[in-house]
Amino acid sequence: MGMIRLHSSPLQGYTDFRFRNAYHNYFGGIDQYMAPYIRLKGSLEITPARERDIRPGNNPSINLIPQVMAKDPEIFLYVADYLQNLGYRALNWNLGCPYPMVANKGMGSGMLARPELIDAFLHRVTTETDMHLSIKMRLGYESSSEIMGVLPVLEKYPLSYIAIHPRTGNQLYKGAVDLDAFKACQSQSSHTVFYNGDIATVHRFRELQDRFPGIRHWMIGRGLLADPFLPAMIKADDHTYPENRYEVLRAFHDTLLASYQEALSGPKHVLTKMHSLWEYLIASFPASPRGLKRIRKAQSLQSYKDIVNGLFKEETPPTH
Ligand SMILES: Cc1cc2nc3c(=O)[nH]c(=O)nc-3n(C[C@H](O)[C@H](O)[C@H](O)COP(=O)(O)O)c2cc1C
Repeated sequence: MGMIRLHSSPLQGYTDFRFRNAYHNYFGGIDQYMAPYIRLKGSLEITPARERDIRPGNNPSINLIPQVMAKDPEIFLYVADYLQNLGYRALNWNLGCPYPMVANKGMGSGMLARPELIDAFLHRVTTETDMHLSIKMRLGYESSSEIMGVLPVLEKYPLSYIAIHPRTGNQLYKGAVDLDAFKACQSQSSHTVFYNGDIATVHRFRELQDRFPGIRHWMIGRGLLADPFLPAMIKADDHTYPENRYEVLRAFHDTLLASYQEALSGPKHVLTKMHSLWEYLIASFPASPRGLKRIRKAQSLQSYKDIVNGLFKEETPPTH
């Protein structure tokens, strides 16, 4: 167990630097955080919000790897250079994003059916930057066989690793992860392969580990929002919450709330941000099956806080 490495899988709109700092402070268990993707729109310019998210000073004790979404090597290289100047030495390329507005433009998982474009892209960027490159990808966009055309291309390049989420893009997050396909990918690649997808409990992690004993690196996305203690419990190989589970959750929540209140203009934005967090976090509040509905009704910070107080009360005494 001591050998495994856990990675925070990026969730655009959720795992920003404020979340990462609060999370790292209260829960730990994560060895490396991947930042939500940087995507340039139109011009060679990193937006101030992106810059804030990845600025090393805003990620003081976070081991962070930035990610880029691009199909144009020019853009990738621009961002690589920018990040290198900030002190980063590694960069992840997003070949997994499933959303049609991305995929239809031939980016993210929309590029997986075009191995010749991936080849040309990697040829150019590996020639022109000395950043350590890795890739995060799905099995394909339309079909899970697309990746079988991509893996031989990836063999030609010095990649730190490839992280595979074994679904297709057009599946979005529906349907089961295809573990047979993941197994096949593992045997078709000499790169270090990371597993990513639906790790939501210690039990599920153990099952996956039994199935893929050769995998050392695991990426957890939504599971960590739903149960922030999950990575630490996986590391301990013990599905036991600390006695003060809800006190820690409470402190984490309050820290994050304060940090969004400080950063965002007006209660509406703060509430929107907290509402989206609760879409996942509510899973840690089994005593309040209608909790999310209640939270969504909150129109002011005061009523939000009252509702949240109620949710925490309903979980005492702590469940194990
Ligand atoms: C709201 C949301 C935002 C995401 N943003 C990113 C992103 O910026 N970059 C990325 O590579 N994957 C992104 N993903 C995919 C996740 O990182 C992860 O690959 C996927 O959710 C499967 O892992 P999980 O089952 O552990 O969540 C996003 C997923 C969701 C649901």
